[in-house]
Amino acid sequence: MGPTLLEHLRERTRPAHVALEAQPLLKRLLSSQLTESQYRELLQSMLAFYQALDAELVPATAALLSRFPDPDYRYLPRAPLLSSDCEALGCAMPPVPRPTVEPHLSGREGYLLGVLYVIEGSTQGGRFISRHLADTLDRDEHSGAGFFNLHRGNDSWAAFRRWLDKGLAFEHRNDIENIIEGADMTFSALRTHLDQWQLPTHGN
Ligand code: HEM
Repeated sequence: MGPTLLEHLRERTRPAHVALEAQPLLKRLLSSQLTESQYRELLQSMLAFYQALDAELVPATAALLSRFPDPDYRYLPRAPLLSSDCEALGCAMPPVPRPTVEPHLSGREGYLLGVLYVIEGSTQGGRFISRHLADTLDRDEHSGAGFFNLHRGNDSWAAFRRWLDKGLAFEHRNDIENIIEGADMTFSALRTHLDQWQLPTHGN
């Protein structure tokens, strides 16, 4: 038996994940010297990215769910979580600028599945990052680390995988290159966005 779609995705996008983890703002997030102001800056930059992404993902995922209904899986918008984390950290909340690199969905279903894989799968990294935020800044899901604790109250990663297994993966069995393309685009759009966030106008 060949690898499952998820095994294949994990393998093929490993370099993109490694490259994103090495992005300076994310590397700094994992430092034992992390400060609140550095964490605030990361939250603001992530908020800008997810505000743009949510605006596309919410309707696109609802449309896919109407074609392939599922009782459990829903896309939970991330921007509201990031926004309340920012508030808990006392961010000054000027209008969040649009990201310089906007993640766009191409309209292809396979591509959308690749994007959703990255966003839902990233909660797995949250398990690790949330422990670090508790240790370094004493922040938990009630005090500014709701986004990185998403795995706690929400099992959308498991629901997403069940949804794939129920027929979506089979339906898209010949669409793997579109799925990988959507996943790679998401990793690299976020990396480029975070790279460009370090411009002096954003307070670095
Ligand atoms: C510094 C930041 C990050 C760290 C340390 C990290 C770490 C991890 C870890 C430990 C896992 C679990 C691997 C496993 O269970 O085998 C994981 C999974 C994953 N992460 Fe990250 N991650 C980070 C950032 C991100 C970001 C920003 C994204 C995308 C927006 C992302 C996307 C994913 C995906 C899609 C998976 C699921 C892989 C799979 O099981 O197929 N990660 N990450």
